[in-house]
Amino acid sequence: MRAHVAIIGSGPAGLLLGQLLTNAGIDNIVLDRVGKDYILGRVRAGVLEEGSVRLLDQAGSSARLHAQGLQHDGFSLAFDGRNHRINLWELTGKKVTVYGQTEVTRDLMEQREISGAKSIYEADNVNVHDFGSTSPHVTYEQAGRTERIDCDFIAGCDGFHGVSRRSVPERAISTYERAYPFGWLGVLAEVPPVASELIYANHPRGFALCSMRSMTRSRYYVQCPLDDKVEAWSDDRFWDELRLRLPAEDAQAVTTGPSFEKSIAPLRSFVAEPMRFGRLFLAGDAAHIVPPTGAKGLNLAVSDVHYLFEGLRDYYTDGSVAGLDAYSGRALQRVWKAVRFSWSMTMMMHRFPDTGAFGQKIQEAELDYLVHSRAASTALAENYVGLAF
Ligand code: APR
Ligand code: PHB
Repeated sequence: MRAHVAIIGSGPAGLLLGQLLTNAGIDNIVLDRVGKDYILGRVRAGVLEEGSVRLLDQAGSSARLHAQGLQHDGFSLAFDGRNHRINLWELTGKKVTVYGQTEVTRDLMEQREISGAKSIYEADNVNVHDFGSTSPHVTYEQAGRTERIDCDFIAGCDGFHGVSRRSVPERAISTYERAYPFGWLGVLAEVPPVASELIYANHPRGFALCSMRSMTRSRYYVQCPLDDKVEAWSDDRFWDELRLRLPAEDAQAVTTGPSFEKSIAPLRSFVAEPMRFGRLFLAGDAAHIVPPTGAKGLNLAVSDVHYLFEGLRDYYTDGSVAGLDAYSGRALQRVWKAVRFSWSMTMMMHRFPDTGAFGQKIQEAELDYLVHSRAASTALAENYVGLAF
């Protein structure tokens, strides 16, 4: 097989890049080691920046997003028993759209099927070869046979645990990491959300987040110990803990019900530099991970894809390599700002082992200043709605 671009990973990054390339007449093959159903079974965050919506518009994959996505003008910070709204629209002139990542992935998958572009699922033992040369290739195994894809470029969109970053020699890559000493226990329940916008809560018992997938389906999180187990959390225990961490008015308004998804995820910050190695380009979680506190993971994958697509388009349009040469620097400049924002939100909102009574007071003072300072609220809002691509 041969393609201009071989894309490893059929998550949002791989599928969005594939769609943009297909629309531009640049043939590409998407490979994934698992099947579509497994990918669509993953529960992920769901806040889209305007820039991400625009790129999904450009890909032609945003009809359902506009029909079903919830536009939010703001969100709330809850602390010291009170709620404080951050008015994103008033502070930045921008909004965010709440629309599950699973739905973004589903829309992109469906559009790829319609486009007829080639996708290979359940590809075993995917490996990347000769990306330091001008003729890289990818191999994989399926039905007992080893297959080969010759290509001009390889896009490593295979997430944090993928093969692409692992294939780069250690001497050629630098990594930066911060692991957080807690996790998020998340539940999905077919109950109306407690409020029409998101609530991020700082509480001495730990962080909580009230989100949603629609006005009938809620997504809630509570901070939990890293070694905690889902089995230790009945629905009743979860609802009780969530309400303890919210201001009284919100706690009383929570509609409880049976959860149909419950999982614990660790939090980490991670960046790999550079994001380009000859003819291999890393994009999305393959290159960086952010704690979900800032809702940046999917949006960073989108901005990486924006830069990489522009570079590939220019190469195939007029042979220019400027965009490809600039890719890593351009992407990392935006990545690090989002990593900083996600880290700062995580530090401000969570209970750390050494927070203690003094640390709690400091966090509450920081939040109290922030919500009463237009300058500080604007800085927070600018980062939350997303910095320019
Ligand atoms: N071979 C083939 N495919 C692989 C391999 C491999 N060795 N390793 C991983 N993959 C696939 C996974 O099965 C997954 O479908 O790569 C895909 C990576 O998708 P994501 O993890 O969703 O990463 P990305 O597309 O960058 O999207 C980033 O996903 O994890 C969230 O918070 C993150 O919202 C962000 C978004
Ligand atoms: C979610 O809805 O899953 C969600 C929303 C905002 C976040 C994190 C997760 O910051």
